[in-house]
Amino acid sequence: MIKFTIITLFKDAIEPYLKTSMMWKATEKGLAEFDFVDLREFGLGPHKSVDDTPYGGGDGMLLRCEPVFAATESVKAKDPTAKVILPTPVGETWNQEMAREFAKDAHYIILCPHYEGYDERILSIVDYKISLGHYVLTGGELPALIIIDSITRLIPGVLGGEQSAAIESFSDGDNLEYPQYTKPSDFRGMAVPDVLLSGNHGEIAKWREAHSKKAK
Ligand code: ADE
Repeated sequence: MIKFTIITLFKDAIEPYLKTSMMWKATEKGLAEFDFVDLREFGLGPHKSVDDTPYGGGDGMLLRCEPVFAATESVKAKDPTAKVILPTPVGETWNQEMAREFAKDAHYIILCPHYEGYDERILSIVDYKISLGHYVLTGGELPALIIIDSITRLIPGVLGGEQSAAIESFSDGDNLEYPQYTKPSDFRGMAVPDVLLSGNHGEIAKWREAHSKKAK
């Protein structure tokens, strides 16, 4: 069982995806658990403020330490083994190999920053800084979903047996999937390769191997 506790101001942006399709099936089968902590509850003062202006000047607001530390500590109090992930454009670029490594562990806290950035001291409680690529998003919610999805689909039993086997042999490393087709065998003049209709499993396996796409 893998567990993700998501610390966010915008649960509504994340939850519908986790209640859909494979992520929902993973929950139903007891293979994954998704929990939310509302960062606002740990905000300061009557307005439950979670951000402030940067020292030294500059545009925008930064996530403050106090609410982030308190929210994280509330999760760690129940499970000190939980590891903290911070989605950030300056993190290590996420890839399939990392997803496979992360799928071996049990409980991740994902801290979703928002606004223009976060107080640097927040990094002192972070185990993994993860970037989804060289572009900047408005917050950590979309990266959190991508990280969760790419890890959860690797948990044995989440995908069907047949699909997991396919992942091991083809789509779980630098080799991405081979082209696939379903009925009809001819659609508007675009025919399915004959070998796939041949029933010759040896030849089909060879064709698939040869046509596996390399990740860039
Ligand atoms: N937050 C903002 N942009 C991001 C990115 N590219 N990857 C991860 N987290 C982010």
